[in-house]
Amino acid sequence: MIHPIIHPLLTWYNLNKRDLPWRNTSNPYHIWLSEIILQQTRVDQGMEYYLKFVTLFPDVQSLAAAPEDLVMRTWQGLGYYSRARNLHFAAKQIVQQFDGKFPDNYNEILLLKGVGTYTAAAIASFAFNEPKAVVDGNVYRFISRYFGIKTPIDSTIGKKEFQKIADEILDKKNPGTFNQAMMEFGAMVCKPQNPFCDACIFNETCFAIKNKLVKELPIKEKKVKVGIRNLHYLLVFDINANFLIRKRDKNDIWESLYEFVLIKDDFNVVSGELNLESFHFLIKREFEPTKHILTHQHIYATFTIGLVNEFSNKVLHSFEKEPWLNANTKAFPRLISRFLEKNEVQKFIDGVTKNEI
Ligand code: ADE
Repeated sequence: MIHPIIHPLLTWYNLNKRDLPWRNTSNPYHIWLSEIILQQTRVDQGMEYYLKFVTLFPDVQSLAAAPEDLVMRTWQGLGYYSRARNLHFAAKQIVQQFDGKFPDNYNEILLLKGVGTYTAAAIASFAFNEPKAVVDGNVYRFISRYFGIKTPIDSTIGKKEFQKIADEILDKKNPGTFNQAMMEFGAMVCKPQNPFCDACIFNETCFAIKNKLVKELPIKEKKVKVGIRNLHYLLVFDINANFLIRKRDKNDIWESLYEFVLIKDDFNVVSGELNLESFHFLIKREFEPTKHILTHQHIYATFTIGLVNEFSNKVLHSFEKEPWLNANTKAFPRLISRFLEKNEVQKFIDGVTKNEI
């Protein structure tokens, strides 16, 4: 059956869609990149990263062959860094297991690391017109309001129910365009806040409009719990402008990113092998704490910059010595790169070299 929303939705989409670069291609590699980038990122922020990735890594071979640090550095600032690690891993998977050819069907695309049912359906339908319904946050919202579905969208049973409805209404003849249209409609008209109900093409058939439930739908059962976390970083230089750095190996949101000497982290227990007293500073500068807001955490970070004569063996056992000149080739968590952008470190180094401190 052709569902009655299909025709008006596709007409609306043709007239109103945004011209986005990943919509003018059926290259599965480009579509995959865009979908991974857009998973937890707004289109206006994601665009810049998408263009950087397709320019630096024009095909899956170049991404697979790239050094990990370059991939992470290109991702720097986007957050949820496991997406970048998985992207790199999956590119190697495609080269090794699929002879360098992007898999061309839902079941095989699903084998790629970091690709779940949503992303596999998006790639399979956009690039190969496979009839798989895509259900992202925009689609959940539209379906919940239009059909009046009150099952929580973040419950297992809710996910199944919404997927079933999306599969039923999917336009099997134009699945790619239909999926894009559903997502675009949710993003542009059936928005989370202040949706355009007055001008909506469905305002006579939408359950939520008829029953004044637009604000209440969709329903979520879990509230995000926010934790407070304090981090204290030491940025230690020797007199030749080398500094101490370490790649995080903890299995957390910052895995594979670099950081300075972390002397206190009251959220995850730190190794504790180094503290302020481990260093004999010639000069030391402390900075006001900065606040960083993530979905699940509010982080207060303090930074101390210090100069030492040379690094002890104990310190070099746990940290790499890196020339300051190379700092901009490393990927740091956003709270660190923001601190570096303030240029306090450069001022410190300039002051030391001019003997002004
Ligand atoms: N969000 C996730 N995928 C998208 C797409 N293909 N176009 C616009 N926004 C999106």
